[in-house]
Amino acid sequence: MDAPTVARVGSADRLRGSLRLPGDKSITHRALLLAALAEGESRILDGSDGLDCNSTAAALRALGVEIERIGASAGGRVDRVVRSGGRRAWREATGPLDAGNSGTTLRLLAGVLAGTPGYAILDGDDSLRRRPVARIIEPLRRMGATLYARAGDSLPPLTIIGRSPLRGIDHQTTVPSAQVKSAVLLAGLSAEGRVLVRESVATRDHTERMLRARGVDVVDVAKGATRGSEVAMEGGQTMLALDEQVPGDISAAAFWLVAGAAHPDADLVVERVGVNPTRRAVIDLLLAMGARIDEDPSGGPNGEPTARLRVRSSRLEAIDIGPADTARAIDEIPILCFAAACAHGTTRIRGAGELRHKESDRIGGIAAGLSALGARIEVQGDELEIRGNGDRPGFGLHGTIVEAHEDHRLAMTFAIAALLAPGAVSIRGAASAAVSYPGFFEELERVRA
Ligand code: S3P
Repeated sequence: MDAPTVARVGSADRLRGSLRLPGDKSITHRALLLAALAEGESRILDGSDGLDCNSTAAALRALGVEIERIGASAGGRVDRVVRSGGRRAWREATGPLDAGNSGTTLRLLAGVLAGTPGYAILDGDDSLRRRPVARIIEPLRRMGATLYARAGDSLPPLTIIGRSPLRGIDHQTTVPSAQVKSAVLLAGLSAEGRVLVRESVATRDHTERMLRARGVDVVDVAKGATRGSEVAMEGGQTMLALDEQVPGDISAAAFWLVAGAAHPDADLVVERVGVNPTRRAVIDLLLAMGARIDEDPSGGPNGEPTARLRVRSSRLEAIDIGPADTARAIDEIPILCFAAACAHGTTRIRGAGELRHKESDRIGGIAAGLSALGARIEVQGDELEIRGNGDRPGFGLHGTIVEAHEDHRLAMTFAIAALLAPGAVSIRGAASAAVSYPGFFEELERVRA
């Protein structure tokens, strides 16, 4: 943890500077898992050094995979080398695998372990033990694996008795979730027959891109035909080891984009941001709100486009964010709520129910925290309504104590709000920022200079 449990953040007169981001969290988890499944050596450069990705690395080590850190830089990036003899060289872990706070570790690894003969238990911290797993148990059981979980097969710890081969599957996801899609595709590497995953809202496609980059044939069956997606692959394909560089995390960039757009004297640059079309909704939503964001494509490693983004003080207007955009910007909704609190007019965010199942109940947490700071935010079922304070001095914000519920995205949202609030803000549970963004609070101090 790189920040105190209670962080006290004062307002900033101006925001200037160029920021480098931690490696993308979603891509780093997948890079580690895929490297562990491939036979040979894979270098993963500029990966996330956040606690979540380190949980994935630790779980893979417990399964017999060698992962060496070959260099860490400030700002949450690390270079790693993964050496693996492929899945057949893995061993059963002698105790439960600890996914910590990380839903992605738990759900993606469950997909892999479902197709790996042997016994495994996946567990995590108190927050993870409250997060749903029935959504992966159901398809993985249909594929032939045996899985059990607490509370009527709904909550971790999760016990898996994996087998190979699994059966192919035609799975329609019940909630928009890249983690579910990925768990099924990863299990599909051990399946006989065809694996098809259908989603009514297309979620992030890193797993598909990264499997392809490693020689696995994954087909977009219905790309562009609907707003959803259908991806198919033949089971039982093997994967190649690969060196790769991880782009900067757009979900981390989102905090600086909102800080720069909302603050009245700001000019910030974020370098090498991953702008994958299935991840960039936060940029497009901020542009629609009137944010002055300039995007300079910088080419991309391994089929993942990246860009240099410059953001300057803007007049933000309210927008209507429907369920599909909410799903696409799911991790950025907390900071977008703060952008809406600084805008002119009333923003509605619909279809946000999944936010209740993240590291904390983010609907309750964001509404309570931003209200305490002076924002006008109301919750009705799965909808948020934010009446912007764009025309009030200091956006109607004031210093106070807020509770982040040990949730990294809430902690960082409140810290950005503190830059704009007259008076100091104390954030409880601030150390959780290290889950995805070690060094966040240092960067926060640097850009106010
Ligand atoms: C992730 C998918 C999303 C997201 C999470 C990372 C991934 O979760 O919230 O931070 O890497 O696949 P869901 O798939 O559960 O929506």
